[in-house]
Amino acid sequence: MRLLILAVFLSQALFKAIGLEFNFSSFQKEDIKYLILSEDSYLVNAIQVTRDTNGAPIENLSGRALYKKPFRLSKGNGSTMATFNTTFLVNIKPQTSPGGEGLAFIITGDSALPENSQGKWLGIVNETSNGSSQARVVAVEFDTRKSDDTDDVDDNHVGLNINSIHSTNQVSLTRYGFNISAGVDLRVFVGYNGNNLTVSVNETLILSEPLDLSTHLPEEVYVGFSASTSTYTELNCVKSWQFSGIDIGGGPNLLWVWIMVPVASVTLLIILISVLLYHRMRAPVDEDLEGGRGNIEDQITLSNLAPNKFRLKELKQATGDFSPKNKLGKEKEKTHHSTVEIAGTPGYMAPETFLVSRATVETDVYSFGVLTLEVVCGRKPGNQSEQNNYNNSIVNWLWELYRKGRITDAADLKMDGKFEEKEVECVLILGLACCHPNPHYRPSMKTVLQVLSGEAEPPQIPHERPSFVWPAMPPSFSKIDDSLTGSQLTPFTELTGR
Ligand SMILES: *[C@@H]1O[C@H](CO)[C@@H](O)[C@H](O)[C@H]1NC(C)=O
Ligand SMILES: *[C@@H]1O[C@H](CO)[C@@H](O)[C@H](O)[C@H]1NC(C)=O
Ligand SMILES: *[C@@H]1O[C@H](CO)[C@@H](O)[C@H](O)[C@H]1NC(C)=O
Ligand SMILES: *[C@@H]1O[C@H](CO)[C@@H](O)[C@H](O)[C@H]1NC(C)=O
Ligand SMILES: *[C@@H]1O[C@H](CO)[C@@H](O)[C@H](O)[C@H]1NC(C)=O
Ligand SMILES: *[C@@H]1O[C@H](CO)[C@@H](O)[C@H](O)[C@H]1NC(C)=O
Ligand SMILES: *[C@@H]1O[C@H](CO)[C@@H](O)[C@H](O)[C@H]1NC(C)=O
Ligand SMILES: *[C@@H]1O[C@H](CO)[C@@H](O)[C@H](O)[C@H]1NC(C)=O
Ligand SMILES: *[C@@H]1O[C@H](CO)[C@@H](O)[C@H](O)[C@H]1NC(C)=O
Repeated sequence: MRLLILAVFLSQALFKAIGLEFNFSSFQKEDIKYLILSEDSYLVNAIQVTRDTNGAPIENLSGRALYKKPFRLSKGNGSTMATFNTTFLVNIKPQTSPGGEGLAFIITGDSALPENSQGKWLGIVNETSNGSSQARVVAVEFDTRKSDDTDDVDDNHVGLNINSIHSTNQVSLTRYGFNISAGVDLRVFVGYNGNNLTVSVNETLILSEPLDLSTHLPEEVYVGFSASTSTYTELNCVKSWQFSGIDIGGGPNLLWVWIMVPVASVTLLIILISVLLYHRMRAPVDEDLEGGRGNIEDQITLSNLAPNKFRLKELKQATGDFSPKNKLGKEKEKTHHSTVEIAGTPGYMAPETFLVSRATVETDVYSFGVLTLEVVCGRKPGNQSEQNNYNNSIVNWLWELYRKGRITDAADLKMDGKFEEKEVECVLILGLACCHPNPHYRPSMKTVLQVLSGEAEPPQIPHERPSFVWPAMPPSFSKIDDSLTGSQLTPFTELTGR
């Protein structure tokens, strides 16, 4: 069950990474359901960012029209990961001479239109939020009026604005032969490649500025348009709009697909096997252990993971017939982990499973680790004599490669080198950490998820695979790095929720 929940988590991470894509080659009435329109924005065969209603006054208006679904821009402060391209047709028709004030493509954390953002504010900020990082808005403005108290170059320019009506860079379109407010269509392209923001008008490059959007904007943003009028007015119209934003890894992150599809299927298989075993275990326990022993013993003999094997009788003797007095750890075992006797698939079982004869959170983490390694390497967990140096277990083999600094050699040959070396390395080291012979050193699933989603570095692992020692000693506290071990060291009874 826990694995299933994990699989759901992982697939959510996967789908979040895919990004946002849409294409309005023209606007229909029903497209309104995809948009967030402020009070004075309308949809009439085009987005009227400020309204165009028969004869009604259009002075001192501001408006915002945004795509309803937010776009995931980054994974956190300072780590921009998204790229996007957008193309739209703008048509601005002056209603006074000259017209005013302008239109902007905006990327914003706040979908709401700021109050009193008409006039020179272009619906981007207002007097209060101008210049404040609280505004959380980056805009490409198409300014059609040279406002008195701003440093506008002219009444026909493109500018890049960050949390402000002041442009960090502005370029007059006049010298390129374009007139924004001539009532003609202009095809605007805005592209962001993770480092630079680029603006072109009718295939002419207008500006390209180095920019880290993640330092100015939250992780999830809205994209769309804002516009305004003052006593000078114009119709601010967007006639078509395509947007394509993707994860920097190149579409749905391929490594994720590689991991998710097999993980999901193996998870189902494991659940199926567990259910079967559970039903079998309701038969007399002793008999079942005898029956199951063949496999497990094979596994122990083939594996050098377990240094010693004990007969059930010996263990019974040593522990006073598993007397509660002799139990390790807490006396009270409320968790469901404690109810299961050895029930698992050889190769996925942690070395201590044979000694504690029950599944714990840590043995689950171990199994997950093996599964992860297996998927990334495209190999079975157990003995595969045809592979060079592939002895006994995938864990030993990979740890050996890790010691030699060549862990990425293990990546599935079918991937044909088409992967991010860093990502593969990260996932493999994480898998090895989960397969640490000492259960106390295995990361928590919380940490695992953080690493997989890129929020944390993989845990540090020793260069040599440590040998299995039982009973396992918890790490001395001076060595513990909380961020790595996560909730791993919380008392056993608190682990029920993982
Ligand atoms: C958007 O749709 C139009 C018409 O359906 C099509 O011609 C155009 O290629 C599409 N653009 C993209 C980027 O898919
Ligand atoms: C628009 O704003 C200007 C300046 O604030 C003001 O003088 C004018 O009366 C306003 N027009 C309308 C119709 O409210
Ligand atoms: C991002 O980090 C910088 C410095 O590390 C900090 O000053 C800023 O407030 C952070 N911004 C957000 C949105 O967390
Ligand atoms: C953006 O456009 C460029 C060039 O037109 C293209 O190479 C790139 O893949 C596009 N990016 C996205 C996210 O669509
Ligand atoms: C600016 O907008 C915010 C949010 O809409 C609002 O609380 C604030 O009062 C506005 N400032 C002015 C000067 O209108
Ligand atoms: C808006 O804020 C910028 C700082 O980002 C400042 O330079 C500019 O003078 C302000 N504009 C107005 C009209 O207050
Ligand atoms: C742009 O066109 C408008 C409307 O035709 C005109 O009033 C304005 O002077 C033109 N601006 C430039 C810079 O050519
Ligand atoms: C810009 O491109 C649009 C659409 O491709 C076209 O209709 C318009 O005439 C062009 N404008 C100029 C000034 O070249
Ligand atoms: C970003 O823009 C600068 C110029 O503003 C240019 O020198 C640089 O090559 C661009 N980088 C990319 C990745 O496009």
